[in-house]
Amino acid sequence: MSNPSDTTQPEKSESPAATPGTESSGGAVVILFFIFGLAASMVLGWVIFPTLLYSKKKQPVDFNHALHVVEVENGCQSCHFFREDGTFSGRPTLESCVTCHESVQGATEEEARFVSQYVEKNREVPWLVYAQQPDCVFFSHAAHTIKGKMDCVTCHGHIGESDHLPIYEVNRITGYSRNIWGRNIAGIKRNTWDRMKMDDCSECHIRENVRQASVQTEKGGCFVCHK
Ligand code: HEC
Ligand code: HEC
Ligand code: HEC
Ligand code: HEC
Ligand code: HEC
Repeated sequence: MSNPSDTTQPEKSESPAATPGTESSGGAVVILFFIFGLAASMVLGWVIFPTLLYSKKKQPVDFNHALHVVEVENGCQSCHFFREDGTFSGRPTLESCVTCHESVQGATEEEARFVSQYVEKNREVPWLVYAQQPDCVFFSHAAHTIKGKMDCVTCHGHIGESDHLPIYEVNRITGYSRNIWGRNIAGIKRNTWDRMKMDDCSECHIRENVRQASVQTEKGGCFVCHK
């Protein structure tokens, strides 16, 4: 009689120990699945989604700012200047280039292509504008760079010092340039030029006390920046 009770005893004492054992391995599986799921959704959200969301385009001609800024006479204004009427001539026309590129002067493929495809055919280069805002937005360079005395870097970053033009990326859903939402998919902003959404314009206007041109204005404020 002592034998069966002996075998039952250990069995009884083993089974309560065995149950938590299965539970904890089940828990480990759940945690593993959770980690897998989390990693997969992070890859989806941070890597796959942004690559699907934006389509990439190369500029028609790769332009080297660093090289040109030392060649031209008036620095940035040789190509980006205010017209007599105060409007800003942002995208350079061939007029800013032909004095030097009437014919090919170097040995680079990019220049040869630029001259044969555009200069010789008298065709303007269809430059893509990184900072492009939607049509409903009114923006004035004079208000910011002349009256506000701001430099180009504040809003555009360091394009003016670069060797190559960046790849242009456009949001497939909204049609906006990626520079509006910014490179960071979560919208994290470290520099003033990382993002240029409505709130970014407005935030600076509040900080700089240009309150009539801020989203927080009770009425009328919308039409300072919208047409
Ligand atoms: C003041 C003279 C000057 C003006 C104005 C000028 N360039 Fe140039 N550009 C140069 C020189 C010098 C080079 C270097 C040529 C070489 O030795 O390869 C060059 C090179 C280039 C190249 C080849 C660069 C590379 O590294 O691949 C391109 C493309 C180009 N220019 C486009 C333009 C465009 C577009 C404009 C007008 C918006 C323009 N340039 C205006 C002087 C000028
Ligand atoms: C020889 C002509 C030339 C000179 C000089 C020049 N740029 Fe440019 N710049 C260009 C061309 C061409 C582009 C391409 C067009 C574009 O991106 O819209 C460009 C584009 C830019 C852009 C990008 C605008 C956008 O959102 O697409 C910025 C910002 C800029 N230049 C700033 C500067 C600054 C700052 C300087 C002076 C340090 C300068 N540039 C000097 C020809 C020039
Ligand atoms: C307060 C921010 C701000 C500052 C400062 C600023 N820009 Fe811009 N820039 C913009 C915005 C916003 C756009 C797009 C405008 C639009 O889509 O109507 C733009 C557009 C441009 C373009 C493309 C224009 C076109 O033809 O579509 C060029 C080139 C440019 N800026 C160069 C410059 C240069 C050079 C400076 C310095 C002298 C400068 N920007 C200063 C915000 C700024
Ligand atoms: C980093 C700061 C800054 C950013 C970013 C900025 N602005 Fe401004 N903005 C100013 C300042 C400063 C003024 C006032 C300039 C002055 O009159 O002295 C101004 C003035 C203006 C005005 C003229 C207001 C008036 O009553 O004359 C308009 C329109 C405007 N901004 C639109 C925009 C838009 C649209 C954007 C975003 C695409 C933008 N701004 C981004 C600083 C900024
Ligand atoms: C400081 C300038 C500024 C002011 C003030 C402003 N907006 Fe905007 N708004 C923008 C810019 C820049 C964009 C484009 C970038 C974006 O979508 O964030 C925009 C985009 C929008 C859009 C989306 C349009 C589209 O085609 O995607 C709406 C809607 C809008 N604004 C409504 C308003 C209303 C309503 C007000 C007044 C309460 C207002 N805005 C005031 C600058 C401004």
